[in-house]
Amino acid sequence: YTIDWDASAAEKGGWESFMDKEIHEDPAAVQRTLLGRLDAHGDINLDEVRIEEHDFKAIDKIIVIACGTAAYAGQVARYAIEHWVRIPVEVELAHEFRYRDPILTPRTLVVAISQSGETMDTLMALRHAREQGSKVLAICNAQGASIPRESDAVLYTHAGPEVAVASTKAFVAQITAAYVLGLYLAQVKGTMYRDEIQTTLDALKAMPAKIQWILDTQTKTVHAAAAQMADARSVLFLGRHVGYPVAMEGALKLKEIAYTFTEGFAAGELKHGPIALVDEGEPVVFIVPPERGRDVLHAKVVSGIEEVKARGAFIIAVAEEGDRDAQRYADIVFWRPKCPTLLSPLVDVVPLQLFAMDMAKLKGYDVDKPRNLAKSVTVE
Ligand code: G6P
Repeated sequence: YTIDWDASAAEKGGWESFMDKEIHEDPAAVQRTLLGRLDAHGDINLDEVRIEEHDFKAIDKIIVIACGTAAYAGQVARYAIEHWVRIPVEVELAHEFRYRDPILTPRTLVVAISQSGETMDTLMALRHAREQGSKVLAICNAQGASIPRESDAVLYTHAGPEVAVASTKAFVAQITAAYVLGLYLAQVKGTMYRDEIQTTLDALKAMPAKIQWILDTQTKTVHAAAAQMADARSVLFLGRHVGYPVAMEGALKLKEIAYTFTEGFAAGELKHGPIALVDEGEPVVFIVPPERGRDVLHAKVVSGIEEVKARGAFIIAVAEEGDRDAQRYADIVFWRPKCPTLLSPLVDVVPLQLFAMDMAKLKGYDVDKPRNLAKSVTVE
């Protein structure tokens, strides 16, 4: 009598791959990243901060530096932080930033986002920023890695170890941490009322359950969509506002692990170029913003859908429950539960992570170890 002990299966907690396991940890990653950030008075705390509160108050510009998925988390953060804190936020790929002779002052806060904390491009950019006298805050998942060690402040994403090369739970955790940073800055700079901050934090706390809803109810639809599109030669992803970086991340996931040619675009650019790529049967994924609040954007994205539909595209929409336009024009809809627009990337990216994974599996690829890619790139 022997017990078949497969160590790797045990590490995967019963899941077929690390990517499966890690996508299903998205809700927990967001929840754990929020935990313990609030003190008894409801004020937001950061982790290891070697920046004085008056220095935070003086910050007049943020530059986010990162690579890959982490850079898209930075782009999402930009919409939220500019809206909440009313200071300009630039997002730049670390390798471009470093060699551009960027304009930095002691009042610039550089935010380095990195899952591994070891990405050489990001580390070099961080060193350059500190040499110019700017403060650097790291948003990092790996405790004690080089990037947090060399930064002036750290906000850890408590996503837990991420093994699959394609980043999933770390992405939602990075976005969450960036929201916390934005609300913290709004608190110290007084750009939001206390109760507004509380309401936003409450909405954030409700996000893990909404992500779980996606995992519980949308997985089958995503699977069916992947089965229908496994042979697609290319897939386009389009979004506006916070849906734009989500589209970019959806495109990145699919090219990384399913080796499908993908491009992500700002939906407003459609008529300035990408529409030339659309012909009969071309799969196009649209991130459709909620109808409330930013109505204009909803109508504009829907008109983009109509345009590509008229050219015979096969449309997948990520849209809010009850969105009649999405229902009417899209061939397949991945539904999102109602949530504030600025927080919607936390849910919208989830079906796209599942979609990339399903496509890769259908094509017979190892979803955890895609060809040519490394989890952490420690060379420049
Ligand atoms: C590599 C990984 C990506 C990751 C990027 C940044 O390219 O394959 O998944 O997004 O590095 O990594 P970091 O650890 O800095 O977040």
